[in-house]
Amino acid sequence: MIKDKKHASKEPEKHAIKESKDITEEPLKESEEIISANPSENIEEAKEVRETRSGRTSRVPIGISGIDELIEGGLNPGALTLLTGTTGTGKTIFSLQYLYNGAKKGAAGVYVSFEEPVENIKENALKLGYDFSKFEKEGKVIFVRYDPFHAEDIYDLIESNIKKIGAKRVVIDSISALGLYVRDSSEIRRTIFNISLLLRKLGCTTVIISEILPLQNSLSRFGVEEFVSDGIIVLYYLRSESQFARSLTIWKMRGSKHSQKLHPYDITSHGIVVYPKEEAFLKM
Ligand SMILES: Nc1ncnc2c1ncn2[C@@H]1O[C@H](COP(=O)(O)OP(=O)(O)OP(=O)(O)O)[C@@H](O)[C@H]1O
Ligand SMILES: [Mg+2]
Repeated sequence: MIKDKKHASKEPEKHAIKESKDITEEPLKESEEIISANPSENIEEAKEVRETRSGRTSRVPIGISGIDELIEGGLNPGALTLLTGTTGTGKTIFSLQYLYNGAKKGAAGVYVSFEEPVENIKENALKLGYDFSKFEKEGKVIFVRYDPFHAEDIYDLIESNIKKIGAKRVVIDSISALGLYVRDSSEIRRTIFNISLLLRKLGCTTVIISEILPLQNSLSRFGVEEFVSDGIIVLYYLRSESQFARSLTIWKMRGSKHSQKLHPYDITSHGIVVYPKEEAFLKM
């Protein structure tokens, strides 16, 4: 049972319209407040935001080879992006690369796991060459696992860790795993909705992972995730003649002229590599 104290709304729809309007009007103000809390640690990030304000760049690069050019250079600052795909498509690896590439440039990040123990996630990251230990020591990255038996509630866990390090990049892995803790479908939807409101309020550029079942003909498990997101990236792992092949598509990206093609990608010993000039031809 998700504890639902101060952020939960009894009337999510009405609340949503009001909250999201306020937040989207001033997304950079939130970022600046977080930056000024840690001025010395966030010089690079502050530069990124100043550049954003001056119009030189308006994007948060994911940093995975080949992907940013499909979405006009990166994610919109403060946007929520749903990363969806079946098991083993590389959703966790994608998100680790997103946080790692941000931390390298000075953008602090929080990884919230609902499922896999954080030690396993970091160990797998290290195998791909992403050593988060130095960023953790510097207070640039926090990995945290939601434990339903712990006293802290889900919203406090997310908010306190983001504020602790002034995180700009957040990963939720995965929103589908909420079903492990919450049985009632309307409560799950309300929780997803409130998490998205909280992340918008905090001004974080967020990747929310959603796991779908093979042959499932929708983008998410609970049917609400796609609507609370500004962007959707779908990862496919489908049969192509005698073997399986990986491809991705940008399903939606609000405010962006994005690729509408299916692009092949690989998971290599250094992580995901996308081929933006190539097209995949797969049977869905
Ligand atoms: N060093 C590597 N070289 C090539 N491929 C790898 C390597 N490490 C992992 N992979 C691939 O990545 C897959 C796992 O990726 P990841 O854990 O990110 O998937 P996921 O979508 O998060 O899965 P889940 O739904 O189980 O959480 C493996 O099944 C494997 O195919
Ligand atoms: Mg995973």
